[in-house]
Amino acid sequence: MVREWDPRNASSAEIASLLDTLNAVLATDLPQDPPWRETCMREYLAEVMPGERRISWVAQAEPAADGTPGPILGHVHVLLLGSIGVLEVLVHPTLRRGGLGRDLVLRAARRVYQEGFESIGVEVVGGTPAIAFYESLGFAREYVETRSVLDLSGVDWAELAEMSTGVGAGYHVQFHPGGPPDELIEAYARAKAEIRDVEDGELRPSSYDPQRLRDSLDCLHRRGMKPYIVLALHEQTGEVAGLTEVVVPVQHPTRADQYDTIVVQDHRGYGIDRAIKARMLLELRSAEPQLTEVQTWNAQANEAMLKVNAELGYLPDREWCEYSVDVAELVHRLDNSR
Ligand SMILES: CC(C)(COP(=O)(O)OP(=O)(O)OC[C@H]1O[C@@H](n2cnc3c(N)ncnc32)[C@H](O)[C@@H]1OP(=O)(O)O)[C@@H](O)C(=O)NCCC(=O)NCCS
Repeated sequence: MVREWDPRNASSAEIASLLDTLNAVLATDLPQDPPWRETCMREYLAEVMPGERRISWVAQAEPAADGTPGPILGHVHVLLLGSIGVLEVLVHPTLRRGGLGRDLVLRAARRVYQEGFESIGVEVVGGTPAIAFYESLGFAREYVETRSVLDLSGVDWAELAEMSTGVGAGYHVQFHPGGPPDELIEAYARAKAEIRDVEDGELRPSSYDPQRLRDSLDCLHRRGMKPYIVLALHEQTGEVAGLTEVVVPVQHPTRADQYDTIVVQDHRGYGIDRAIKARMLLELRSAEPQLTEVQTWNAQANEAMLKVNAELGYLPDREWCEYSVDVAELVHRLDNSR
């Protein structure tokens, strides 16, 4: 049975059951990825940025003879932002190829259409059945990134310490657990607005204005995702010349996610990228002792960033693709194929 579902008032048993399905999917499709934990799972599913909405549906098995609710074996949610709905769908590996994935997408697509949105975007992991699934539904590939993973057990910490000091004169490198301090928010947002080396895809827009940045940090905290920031301050002007952001999610605290890394155009060529990333890893080593890996996403054309990541020891792992589809066409196609 598929029904609309609100994680804010779902039972703890439902949240736990959805987590079991997510972990079964990970074990099947991405066996190297750490399983997720239950901590803050409800908040992860429920919290959104101001102005955004997430609508979810679940597929739940029939209740047992004693009335115990059945497990949640499928899930879809769509995040409505700007003019696009960003979709995520999961089907338990034991139930695949039975049409449930298609059904879940149709539920979400109909709502996105009714809400007046034009397109649906989705992130699809290379080398998993989701590629053939979305292509069969008419989604087109827009953008491909490479996910790379750094295994911290292989890091040469002495060399990293050296890299972290290799920044030109006139810059001051600072570490800020939790996010940039309020007095630097405006300069930080300016650095993000001016230029960015995109380390994450178009479906995860960056925050350029100070209020949006505050909202986005606040939302991360509410979802159980702890941001860490290293920035290079240009001493003469007080401007943020470079920044790098890593998030440690409480749901999988052994593997952190690299977010944006930016070196502002005028400040390139002074070793800032390498130094701030090295400093971040050194700081994380003491701030998050359970951390064993960091993952990052890079555009395949971003050679400078790929070079620094390779020096740090990141190894390419998988393709990470963005697909999109026109909502009206998708609804039409799915309705006609029933
Ligand atoms: C992608 C996913 C949702 C598909 O669910 P599903 O219920 O198996 O999909 P459906 O049965 O509705 O399949 C619809 C069509 O997609 C295509 N398709 C789906 N899986 C496929 C596969 N493994 N190989 C080839 N085609 C496939 C087929 O055309 C299929 O139609 P058919 O079975 O009539 O030939 C499911 O595999 C899944 O949950 N994957 C994980 C998604 C994810 O988010 N991963 C990220 C974290 S790991």
